[in-house]
Amino acid sequence: MSREGCCLKIAPFRIEQYFAVHEFTAPHLLSSSDAETVSVASVLALEPDATDRLGSLALGYTQSAGAPELRAAASAIYTTTAAQDIVVVSAAEEAIFAAYHALLKPGDHVVVETPCYESALQLARSTGADVSEWRRSADAGWAHDLAALERVMRPNTRMVYINTPHNPTGALMPRTVLDRVIELCAERKAWLFCDEVYRELEHDPTALLPAAVDLYEHAISLGSMSKTYGLPGLRLGWLASHDRAALTKIIDFKHYTTICSSAPSEFLSAVALRHRSVFADRSRAIVLANLALIDALMARHADRLSWVRPNASTIGFMRIAGVEETDGFCAKLVADAGVLLLPGSVYDEPTHVRIGFGRTTTPEALRRFEAWLLQQS
Ligand SMILES: Cc1ncc(COP(=O)(O)O)c(C=O)c1O
Repeated sequence: MSREGCCLKIAPFRIEQYFAVHEFTAPHLLSSSDAETVSVASVLALEPDATDRLGSLALGYTQSAGAPELRAAASAIYTTTAAQDIVVVSAAEEAIFAAYHALLKPGDHVVVETPCYESALQLARSTGADVSEWRRSADAGWAHDLAALERVMRPNTRMVYINTPHNPTGALMPRTVLDRVIELCAERKAWLFCDEVYRELEHDPTALLPAAVDLYEHAISLGSMSKTYGLPGLRLGWLASHDRAALTKIIDFKHYTTICSSAPSEFLSAVALRHRSVFADRSRAIVLANLALIDALMARHADRLSWVRPNASTIGFMRIAGVEETDGFCAKLVADAGVLLLPGSVYDEPTHVRIGFGRTTTPEALRRFEAWLLQQS
């Protein structure tokens, strides 16, 4: 199929469809993946002159690759990058769209780690590429089966998408697995597209995995203001890579999506990233306090609730004993108690639910979930 003859067909994004229905009406959110947010004023308070600088910021277009101060601030997250190795995008969602469409053509082979944030799979398919899933299974404790990856890789595999820390399980990829994935990519000079939007929210900060961009020349690390730093309203993310040719193609594609990102968002993101440990530490403290409550809840309901305990991020994937199809369970929970869990069917894992615990409102949502659970037995 020629590129010219191809038209963009994308399956509906089930996760976002579900949140579009419930996120702004359900009173007790218990599945959100973004950490507790803060006000614009709190970001501006981090630097003495930030309020004045935002006030005098010109609202013209910014550079397509991103504002220089933001590219510099984002490059400091990694150990081997400089500002020119960063391309700013309007959040991770644009990054996934732009990276796939800029780098892949119909007939290319791509491997996507699943279950995953749905756009990572659907947008790969929307390029016309031939997409294979590297599927992890609940029965194997969501372990990364490297033999399975080797089976789906082909000599002409152009890209592998992975996500660590992982949505929906909240698990970090073990370092040995990451190293082997890189070897398999390097043998083919394939891009490793590593979605790291939950990075720096390891529950034990010493468990931080190196970013893919710092390990492999054809790696593209994806970062976002949305999750660890709790600032999704900025709609700001970035791609980091040493592969200049790939970044140039992505910028060329971005000229057809947003041209450049929002100037105020770039400014606020640069301020926040220069102080990113403030946000990451705050998010981690909230997550750890909520995890202790979830541990206690699960101990009280061990006959019904189980999971592979997450070791990073704001989310985990829970099994509810006796419920083979959690759509109805979640629908009843939100209708009866106003508590929002995300049914695993949106990941093609209908026996599970995604729970989110990055908010200060999580304790109240958990109390209401437990009260409802007790009424069901
Ligand atoms: C793994 C993953 N990647 C990307 C995104 C998109 O994030 P954003 O567009 O808010 O930066 C999400 C959001 O849930 C996600 O979980």
